[in-house]
Amino acid sequence: MTTTLITGANKGLGKETARALIAAGHTVWIGARDQARGRAAADELGARFVQLDVTDDASVAAALQTIEDSGTGLDVLVNNAGIAKRGDGMTEALDGPSVLEVFDTNAVGVVRVTEAALPLLERSGNPVVVNVSSALGSFWATHEPTRPASRFVSLVYGASKAAVSMLTVQYANAYPGIKVNAVEPGITATELGGGDPGSHPGRPASESAQVVARMAMIGADGPTGTFQEDQGELGW
Ligand SMILES: NC(=O)c1ccc[n+]([C@@H]2O[C@H](COP(=O)([O-])OP(=O)(O)OC[C@H]3O[C@@H](n4cnc5c(N)ncnc54)[C@H](OP(=O)(O)O)[C@@H]3O)[C@@H](O)[C@H]2O)c1
Repeated sequence: MTTTLITGANKGLGKETARALIAAGHTVWIGARDQARGRAAADELGARFVQLDVTDDASVAAALQTIEDSGTGLDVLVNNAGIAKRGDGMTEALDGPSVLEVFDTNAVGVVRVTEAALPLLERSGNPVVVNVSSALGSFWATHEPTRPASRFVSLVYGASKAAVSMLTVQYANAYPGIKVNAVEPGITATELGGGDPGSHPGRPASESAQVVARMAMIGADGPTGTFQEDQGELGW
């Protein structure tokens, strides 16, 4: 039995990844900062719920303690929770506190949760970490004229996702026994950026979740230290 924790799984890509992994037989822990919304998603999907705010050390420590105490163990961690902050209109918020919040959630959050999860992951026979990054954080894609990421300016969110990608490479190097990969899920109609459901352009979250789920299900011979999208490997 494979047990998976997904952060920010009460909606959007995280919830759809949970749905796909449950269908594939995983025991899934829905990590969500809001009790009511997290529990509702877990009840709907047949998952377990754990309160987890990726910006809060105590919340992260308590969440991993809950999982340890439950006896499920932990084989797969999907670092999915992420935000983008809008300022006026469609532009990004560039004031210091907003920038810190984006980096705290998207990048520092990956370190907080991964560090707390490592002791459990190291007891798994096939430990896997999937970091949900973005082509907007790819130096390759932002220089490649055929890619949307080369035409869409994203100063803070993009930089925070570049940090997620480098954290992926560094964790993969630091822990050869754990497969750590980053994923670009594709442009997806979610509430990212704080809009209404589906206000972000893109394809349905259920479609984009497939590549996240695929990387969560890699076997012992799977890749590590790579950046993946639907079609395969993506340039850093
Ligand atoms: N949508 C896209 O086109 C796209 C493209 C590339 C990458 N991504 C990435 O995909 C991931 C999922 O985003 P999404 O598109 O599904 O957006 P979303 O619908 O806004 O979902 C984001 C999830 O993260 C959670 N979250 C935010 N801050 C958190 C915190 N401090 N602690 C715990 N959970 C927190 C949210 O919880 P609340 O409900 O409590 O806010 C929500 O469950 C993000 O990392 C995003 O950067 C998205």
